[in-house]
Amino acid sequence: MLDLLHTTKTHDETRQGEAVELAPTGKADGRKLYIESYGCQMNFSDSEIVASILIDQGYETTKDYKQADVVFINTCSIRENAEQRVRNRLKEFEAVKAKNPGLVVGVLGCMAERLKSKFLEEEKLVDVVVGPDAYRDLPNLINKVEDGNKAVNVLLSREETYADISPVRLNSNGVSAFISIMRGCDNMCSFCVVPFTRGRERSRDYASIVKEAQDLYNAGYREVTLLGQNVDSYKYTPKVEEGNDPLPTVNFANLLELVAQVSPELRIRFSTSHPKDITDEVLYTMAKYENICKYIHLPVQSGNSRVLELMNRTYDRQWYMGRVDAIKRIMPDCAISTDIITGFCTETEEEHAETLSMMDYVKYDFAYMFAYSERPGTLAAKRYQDDIPEEIKKRRLTEVVNKQQIHSLERITQYVGKVHKVLIEGFSKRSDKDYCGRNDQNTMVVFPVDARFKVGDYVHVLGESCTSATLIGKIID
Ligand code: SAH
Ligand code: SF4
Ligand code: F3S
Repeated sequence: MLDLLHTTKTHDETRQGEAVELAPTGKADGRKLYIESYGCQMNFSDSEIVASILIDQGYETTKDYKQADVVFINTCSIRENAEQRVRNRLKEFEAVKAKNPGLVVGVLGCMAERLKSKFLEEEKLVDVVVGPDAYRDLPNLINKVEDGNKAVNVLLSREETYADISPVRLNSNGVSAFISIMRGCDNMCSFCVVPFTRGRERSRDYASIVKEAQDLYNAGYREVTLLGQNVDSYKYTPKVEEGNDPLPTVNFANLLELVAQVSPELRIRFSTSHPKDITDEVLYTMAKYENICKYIHLPVQSGNSRVLELMNRTYDRQWYMGRVDAIKRIMPDCAISTDIITGFCTETEEEHAETLSMMDYVKYDFAYMFAYSERPGTLAAKRYQDDIPEEIKKRRLTEVVNKQQIHSLERITQYVGKVHKVLIEGFSKRSDKDYCGRNDQNTMVVFPVDARFKVGDYVHVLGESCTSATLIGKIID
C-alpha cells in the first residue's frame, strides 16, 4: 500500500469508437500528444481535461512518447521524492528531443506551479510550464513555442473549475471514472504544499457535476469517484437569474444525494474527507443510499494532539476518535482508510506511539503512509525545524507499515465467508481467467470469469480466502 496514492503511471487514450464526438475543430490536425501523470487522482483527472482541450484543437493522443509532437508531464510536488521522479523522467525525454528538436516538452501541474519560470532555467529541455488553473491557455502557449519562444502560465484562479469541459477518459476501463467537484485547498496544513500549488478552494457548479455523472452513466460507466482535497467543504450557491428566486446552497451531503439519484446502478465514491469537516449529515446520506459506497478515506496524519496542532490540522485526537465513532455508529459496515506522516518536526517517541495506538483504535482497512518530507515555502518549513533524523522517520514508518499490514489482513479476513456485491472492473492483473472488481468497502476482489457476466456488471461474490490486499472468491449469482 505504501505510496500507492502517488505512484507513477502512464496515461494514454484508450477510448474507442467515439470519433464523432472528438472531431477536430482546431488547426493541429493529427498532431500527436503524449501525456503522463504523477501524483494524486486530481492530477489524473486534470490530464483528462488537458487531453480534452487539445483534442478540441485537432490533436490525437498517443501511447508512445517517441511518436509524439507534444509531450506533457503532469507533475506532483507533495514530497521531495515525487519531484525527483519527475526530474528523472525528464532526463529520459532528452534523447527524444535531441532526435526531434521540434518536439514540444511541457511541464504541467503542481511542480510547474511551485517552480514557475525557474523550471526553464533548471531543465533546459522544457519549453512550456503551465500551472493547474491555466490549461485553457495551452493551445496558445504551444503556438508561442512553435514560434520559437518559451512559454509560462502559472496564474492561479479563484473561479476556474473547468466545469464546461468534458474530460476525455484516459486509460479508462469504461466502468469507473473520476469527477472533479472542487479545486484548490484553503486549509493550510503546515506540512502541505497543495494550497500553494493549487490555490484557493472553489466548488464546481453542482448541475455540471450531476450532468457529468449522468453522461458517464449513459455511456456505460457504473462508478464515479467525486474528487477534491477536502470534499466535505464542498459548497455551491447557484447564481440567481434576474427575476427568479434564489436557489439554496448545495453542500456535500446534498451533492452526494443528487449524484446518487442519477441511478441506483451507479456507484458513488469520493475522496478526500477532512476529519474537521465530515458531518453526520454526510454519514446519514451515505447510509440512506445503497449506491454510495461504504468507504471513507479519513486521513489522520498523526494520533497525537500536540503534533496535530503543529500540523495545523485543526482537530485533535479526541475529535478524530469521535468522528470514527460516528461513522461506526451510523454505518457499522463502513471501511475507513487513512494517511499517516511519521517523523513530523519535534515528534517524540511517545507521540509516535499515539499514532500506533490510534491505528489500534480505528483498525484501518488501508493506509497510505509517508515519512515527513519538508517542502519549501510551507508553514512547517518556515516555522519548525525538520529535526527528526531520516533513520528515525524511516523506523517509525516501518512500525506504522507493519501494524497496518496486520490490520489490513484482520479486516479483510472478516470478509471471508461473506457475500459481496462487486462491480466487475476488468480482468485480474495476473490472469484473464479471473475478473477483478471492488466490493462496497473498496477491497479488491478476484474471482473466476463466468461467461454470463461482463465488465460493468454487478455480481455477488462469496469470499473464500484472502491476502492482506485481495479477497479471493467465486460468483454465486
Ligand atoms: N487533502 C488531503 C491530502 C492530500 S496530500 C487531506 O487533507 O488529507 C496526500 C497525503 O500526502 C497527505 O494526507 C499526507 O499524509 C501526505 N503528505 C502531504 N504533505 C506531505 C509531506 N510534506 N511529507 C510527507 N507526507 C506528506
Ligand atoms: Fe494539504 Fe491539508 Fe489541504 Fe489536504 S487539507 S491538501 S493536507 S493543506
Ligand atoms: Fe501532488 Fe499536487 Fe496532488 S502536489 S498530491 S499532484 S494536488
